[in-house]
Amino acid sequence: MIQFLVNNELIEIDDEPADLTLLDFLRERKGLSGTKEGCASGDCGACTVVTACLADTSQTSTEQNNTKQTSTTESKTLSTLKYEAINSCITYLSALHGKHIITVEYLSNGSELHPVQTAMVDANASQCGFCTPGFVMSIFAMYQSKQYLEQAVARTDVINALSGNLCRCTGYQPIINAALDACAPSEKTQTHIDTAQDSVMQKLEQLSANAGSNQHSFLPTTRLELAHCIQNNPNARLVAGSTDLALVSTQQLQSIPALISLKYLPELSSIEQNENAIRIGAACTLSQIEPVLIKHFPSLKEVIERFASVPIRNQASLGGNIANASPIGDMPPVLLALNASLVIDNGEESRSMPLKDFFVDYKQTRLGKNEWLRFIDIPLPSPNEVIKVYKISKRMEDDISAVCMAISISLDNGKVTSLSTGFGGVAAIPSQCNELVQALIGKKWKSRANVGLGQDILKTAFTPIDDVRASADYRVQMLQNLWHRFWLETNARDLSISTRVIDHA
Ligand code: FES
Ligand code: FES
Repeated sequence: MIQFLVNNELIEIDDEPADLTLLDFLRERKGLSGTKEGCASGDCGACTVVTACLADTSQTSTEQNNTKQTSTTESKTLSTLKYEAINSCITYLSALHGKHIITVEYLSNGSELHPVQTAMVDANASQCGFCTPGFVMSIFAMYQSKQYLEQAVARTDVINALSGNLCRCTGYQPIINAALDACAPSEKTQTHIDTAQDSVMQKLEQLSANAGSNQHSFLPTTRLELAHCIQNNPNARLVAGSTDLALVSTQQLQSIPALISLKYLPELSSIEQNENAIRIGAACTLSQIEPVLIKHFPSLKEVIERFASVPIRNQASLGGNIANASPIGDMPPVLLALNASLVIDNGEESRSMPLKDFFVDYKQTRLGKNEWLRFIDIPLPSPNEVIKVYKISKRMEDDISAVCMAISISLDNGKVTSLSTGFGGVAAIPSQCNELVQALIGKKWKSRANVGLGQDILKTAFTPIDDVRASADYRVQMLQNLWHRFWLETNARDLSISTRVIDHA
């Protein structure tokens, strides 16, 4: 039985359809119509709710013994609640076991508005109001995460937090002002949400201890269980974040009879590192991997922050972004350029393969019957390695790329010693360009001839298609322009050309 809390009320799900979304459950089963449906595809934020789940924090305390002049240091693991905004329209109930779902109805206590709602009123931040509950919930997630930090929330934090919310009539400035006001450090008055936290944590601790499968949704917790689930339910779909799969039911209106969730196997949600590589469990969310990747590859910050929106990144898994084999997924080009490899499992044995060999054709991969993606291994960067990623899309946030180019280069004495590439949006699968690599290895990178050399190769390396996002000609032109930009940026210091100038060119 799947068990979770909605607004601090216990919910037990036994025989609901596997593809019932959280949004439909809230509105149709619970009558909680404050959560709205706009696009039903994760693009507008009208359906935003907040999840709170147990998170462990380590607290170290040092006790001084004055008489003996010694001190003892004790580490305690404390439970706390981690708040995240998600899109309920593309969330299946199988993702919710052991979580607390907070909707806009829970924020105000009788006649008293929550501070986030008060700030929205004071800033005149709502007109038609349809988008407003979603904005309030995104701001509330940030408010809950930041309120004890006693540091000002920056405008960029607010814009990031609101990256998944669209408003067509108020305009964003009053909403941003409301968020800055609500999250400013001040003497916070306790809300009923604060006072209910202990009881919520107690309830969640009990739920987490129980397995959560039901008739249509399977929540295996070990490799063996997962292997059995897959063998015994050939019609069931594997799901981690559901940000892509849910569109099958919400946009194509097809039913999914059974789901096997990958979110409850601890190894699939873990991140480990040794001296050579980072190993990421396939069900890790983009929000989970964001700080790890940015720590080792700071230049990936922009592309990760432009991966859809915060609510999507809180759900979408790295493994899903690879296994769905979309030619325009954001992470495969990056991982190709980083020479990532995959570990594929069937419960009895694992096999590994370079990511570049994984994609076969449009939406087809080398995953065999009864197999799943287990880990993604990313080699740590060498000291002189530089990676740059360029995503071309119509909007900065929450948009799909027309073209993506990722290139990693290492130089020794000014000569190219290694170059690896990843391209999205220019072929049926995420691709590399070996011709480019072969042509550049050993060349003096500073030579301007490399611009033309690379552009000539990229002009004919791929045969992209025309579609609503971009024409084939535009895509080819973009590849050539981005190559030029890459060369300029990686030579910027030598050539005294700042990347800022290039950004405005
Ligand atoms: Fe638009 Fe969910 S209804 S994101
Ligand atoms: Fe947001 Fe109208 S107030 S769409």
